[in-house]
Amino acid sequence: IIMATMESLIGLVNRIQRACTALGDYGGADSALDSLWDALPSVVVVGGQSSGKSSVLESIVGRDFLPRGSGIVTRRPLVLQLHKTDGGEEYAEFGHMPHRRFTDFSLVRQEIQDETDRITGKSKQISPIPIHLSIYSPKVVNLTLIDLPGLTKVAVEGQPESIVEDIEKMVRAYVEKPNSIILAISPANQDIATSDAMKLAKEVDPSGERTFGVLTKLDLMDKGTNALDVLEGRAYRLQHPWVGIVNRSQADIMKNTDMIYARQREQEYFYTSPDYGHLASKMGSVYLAKLLSQHLESVIKAKIPGIIALINKGIEEMEAELDRLGRPIAVDEGAKLYTILELCRAFDKIFKEHLD
Ligand code: GDP
Ligand code: NA
Ligand code: MG
Repeated sequence: IIMATMESLIGLVNRIQRACTALGDYGGADSALDSLWDALPSVVVVGGQSSGKSSVLESIVGRDFLPRGSGIVTRRPLVLQLHKTDGGEEYAEFGHMPHRRFTDFSLVRQEIQDETDRITGKSKQISPIPIHLSIYSPKVVNLTLIDLPGLTKVAVEGQPESIVEDIEKMVRAYVEKPNSIILAISPANQDIATSDAMKLAKEVDPSGERTFGVLTKLDLMDKGTNALDVLEGRAYRLQHPWVGIVNRSQADIMKNTDMIYARQREQEYFYTSPDYGHLASKMGSVYLAKLLSQHLESVIKAKIPGIIALINKGIEEMEAELDRLGRPIAVDEGAKLYTILELCRAFDKIFKEHLD
């Protein structure tokens, strides 16, 4: 019962976050809703360019839907909400296109690219304006994940010099929030001491309590070397265990290697590895998704009193706003307010029933 409750709570948090987003900055920056969004935890993916951030996200979702490749591919933040459903078809919906259901995930990738270009032009510029994407599926865990442009040390041709700093500023704004859980991605074929992700994580979260270290590209390490020093926490100590990952290579992507097959192959890689066999049950993207979801649960539990207070304040504000608008009010605005109000009430009720 507790498990089911927690699952529905995370689902509810997810839906409240989505409703807050749909409402835009209704109520202004200091409104209870805005504080509510900030109080709810989300997972922020950070790392150097081509470290495997988008690949890790896809693997967690179990679908192909993100633009991937070399260079700066991710040029706007992508706020990705996973909603676990009871069954039925998997589909995706964008915040900027609320009435269109995408069931073909290659069209999702295309739309991310198009929507990126709509704001940044076809240039290689970046923009801090997020793209919101929700995925509904019986196979996902309830999570909010944010994909960000990769940290970089040099601008490439066609980019302004300032891009290096602009990206860092944007990423920093996300990871600095005390409620963000940092998914710090480093490639195993580079020295961990030079990892952009770990450098930033160390700065904003020195105790390592909200940082999850992820080591990608284990398959690309030089023969005869391994990453046990990192994976066993000796090279870089964090409070959470490190997770090793083997994503699809560029060649796999060109060949359209199936995602589910790739995850099985990843499992096999660990279970049959002479170096990592003893860690196999705690490696790979499926384990990472579980670990994050469990952590999210414990964070939400710890924040329950604060969240309830904010929700109640939010309910009051929304009720006042509905009164002020009078009835009838604009259908869209009113419907959104009612939705979020209902979600908040449901949230409040579940907490009261199970925790009083
Ligand atoms: P991002 O820029 O950090 O989002 O990185 P991407 O996910 O776009 O990956 C960059 C490139 O590295 C792609 O060609 C991926 O196929 C490749 N890649 C990512 N992770 C791995 C991995 O674990 N092993 C291998 N062999 N290639 C990987
Ligand atoms: Na990339
Ligand atoms: Mg990317």
